[in-house]
Amino acid sequence: MCGIVGILANKPVAIDLVDALRRLEYRGYDSAGVATLENGHLDRRRAEGKLRNLETRLHEQPLQGHVGIGHTRWATHGRPTERNAHPHMSAKVGVVHNGIIENYRELKAELSSRGHVFETDTDTEAVVHLVTDELDKGLEPIAATKAALAKLQGAFALGIIFAGHDDLMIAARKGSPLAIGYGTGEVYLGSDAIALAPFTDTITYLDEGDWAVMRRSGVEIYDEAGSRVDRPKIKSVASALLVDKGNHRHFMAKEIHEQPEVVSHTLANYLDMGSGTIAFPDLGIDLAKIPRVTISACGTAYYAGLVGKYWIERYARVPVEIDIASEFRYREAPLVDGGLAVFVSQSGETADTLATLRYCKAGGQRIASIVNVRTSSIARESHAVLPTLAGPEIGVASTKAFSCQLSALACLAIAIGRAKGTITPAKEAELVKALIEVPRLMSSMLHSEQQYEDLAQYLSKARDVLFLGRGINYPLALEGALKLKEISYIHAEGYAAGELKHGPIALIDENVPVIVVAPDDDLFEKTVSNMQEVAARGGQIILISDAPAEKCGCKLVAHIKVPKGHDFANPLLYAVPIQLIAYHTAVFMGTDVDQPRNLAKSVTVE
Ligand code: F6R
Repeated sequence: MCGIVGILANKPVAIDLVDALRRLEYRGYDSAGVATLENGHLDRRRAEGKLRNLETRLHEQPLQGHVGIGHTRWATHGRPTERNAHPHMSAKVGVVHNGIIENYRELKAELSSRGHVFETDTDTEAVVHLVTDELDKGLEPIAATKAALAKLQGAFALGIIFAGHDDLMIAARKGSPLAIGYGTGEVYLGSDAIALAPFTDTITYLDEGDWAVMRRSGVEIYDEAGSRVDRPKIKSVASALLVDKGNHRHFMAKEIHEQPEVVSHTLANYLDMGSGTIAFPDLGIDLAKIPRVTISACGTAYYAGLVGKYWIERYARVPVEIDIASEFRYREAPLVDGGLAVFVSQSGETADTLATLRYCKAGGQRIASIVNVRTSSIARESHAVLPTLAGPEIGVASTKAFSCQLSALACLAIAIGRAKGTITPAKEAELVKALIEVPRLMSSMLHSEQQYEDLAQYLSKARDVLFLGRGINYPLALEGALKLKEISYIHAEGYAAGELKHGPIALIDENVPVIVVAPDDDLFEKTVSNMQEVAARGGQIILISDAPAEKCGCKLVAHIKVPKGHDFANPLLYAVPIQLIAYHTAVFMGTDVDQPRNLAKSVTVE
C-alpha cells in the first residue's frame, strides 16, 4: 500500500506533489511527506496523520526544489510517527517506497556493521543506506541504484532522488504498480495514473522488474536483466475520472447513491437488454466444458465471490471452489484440468489476490478477472477481463464496486448455465429481466433514509452486533458485519442463521442487536425459526426483508422494507440496506467514514 509520487519540473514542485498525493490517499493516510532538492541538497517536510497536516507544515516551511518525491503511508514496519514517515534520506539519497523489503533485517545488520546509522523502524531505510553505500564506493547514481536493486528482496515501487543531481530521478517496480507520466519538459512518477491526471494523460506503466532513469528530456526504461526496453505510452482516461463528493457529505454516501447507475452500466456490458439475453464476452474457454470454477478474492470482493458461488452452483450446476486469497495462495490446493479461475478485485492490485491468480495460472487454469481498474496488475495478468463499470471508488469501504461485482458474477452464472444447458432460453429471459429491474428497485430504496438515522442512534449504543443470513443471503450477512465494523468500529459478526445454535447463540441477550437479512424466499421460514430462537433469549431483532413484519411472528426493533424483486436478484437489492445501516451508524458516531482508521483502499502488501 502507500502511494508514491515524483516530479521533475522547471518550477517548485512541492505543492503539485501534495496535490498528487491527495489522489493517492486511498492507499494509506497514516503519515505523509515530500522531499525536494534545494540548491543541490536534499530537504524534506513530513507530518503524522492526514495530508492536511503536511500541507500546514509546508505552509510554515515551504520547499522550493524543482525535483521532488512524495509519499502517503499505510504503516507496515514501524508506528505511523513523523520519524517513520517517508521520504527517508541520507545526505546523498532520498527514497519513497511502496511495498515491503523482506530482507531488510539482514541488510540493516550488514550496513550497520559498516557504520551506517539507522534512525527509523522502517524497512525502507535499508534502501537509503544500501544506495548510499554504493555511492560511497564511488559509483554514480545509476550504477549505485542498479547494484542496490539487485540486493533487494520483496515487493517495491521506489522513487529515488540524489543530492547534487537536479535532473535525475530513478524509479523501480517489483510487485507494486508504478506509472510514469510525460509532460512538456517535465516528467512524473506515480503509483497510478489518477495521481498524475492533472499533469498529463500520457502514461507508461512499468512492467514487473523494470527500473527507469528519468530526466526532464525523457525516460530510459530497463528490465530486470538491465537491458534497455521500450514500454508503450498510452493515453490514460484517468483525467476524466477525477471525482468530487457532489452534494453528498461523504464519498461513501455518493457511491451508495450511484449504485443504480453504475449497476445499470455494468449490466449493460454483459446483457443484451433489447432481446433479454446474455451478451457475454468470450473468455477463451468453452463454458460448456468447464468442470469447476475457482474463485478467490479478499474482503468485500470475497463476499461478492461467495454470492457468485451460490449463483453458479444453483443455476449453472458447476461446482465452485472459493477461498480468501491470503489462504488460497499457500494452501497448495489441487486444480482440475480445464478449470476457470475467477478473481474479484476493485483495485486490481491486491497482493494476495494477484499471488493466487499467478498460482492458478501456473496450474493451467483459464484466468478471468472481475476488476474495476482496467489497467491494474490483476487485469493485465488475466486471460480475460470482466470489467465492473463502477467508476473510481474513493470511500475506503467498498459499496458500488461490490454491487457491480455482483452484477458481473450474476451474468457469469447465467452465461455458464446457458452454455451448460442448465438454463433454458425461457429461464435466461426470466433471469435477465430480474437483473434489468435491479437499478429501478435500488433507486426506490435510496429516497428516504430517515429510518436508518433512527436505527443508527440505537446501534451506536451496542457493543456487539450480529448479522444473520441463510443461503445466498449468508454472504450479505458477512458483508453487513464487515461494513459496520470497518467504519463504525462496533464489533460485528456475520453468521449463517442455521449455525447460530452451534455456539454464537450464547452471545445473545437484550443488549445485542441481531440484524437478519431475510428475503421472502424459499428459505424464509427456516430463518424465521432462527429469529424466534433469538427472540426467545431476549435478542433485539432488526429485520431486512420484503416480507411483512407479521410473517416473522416475533417482536422487531425495526423492519427495513426492501421492494419485492426476483429471488435471483436479491443479493443486489439487499446490499443497499446493509450499506446504509453502516454508513448512518458511522455518521452518527462521528467516525471518519471515508478514511476509517488503520485501513487503506488498495492492499498491495500480503
Ligand atoms: C471493505 C473493502 C475491502 C476490499 C478488499 C479487497 O469495504 O473494501 O475488504 O474489498 O481489501 O480489495 P480489492 O477489491 O481492491 O481487491
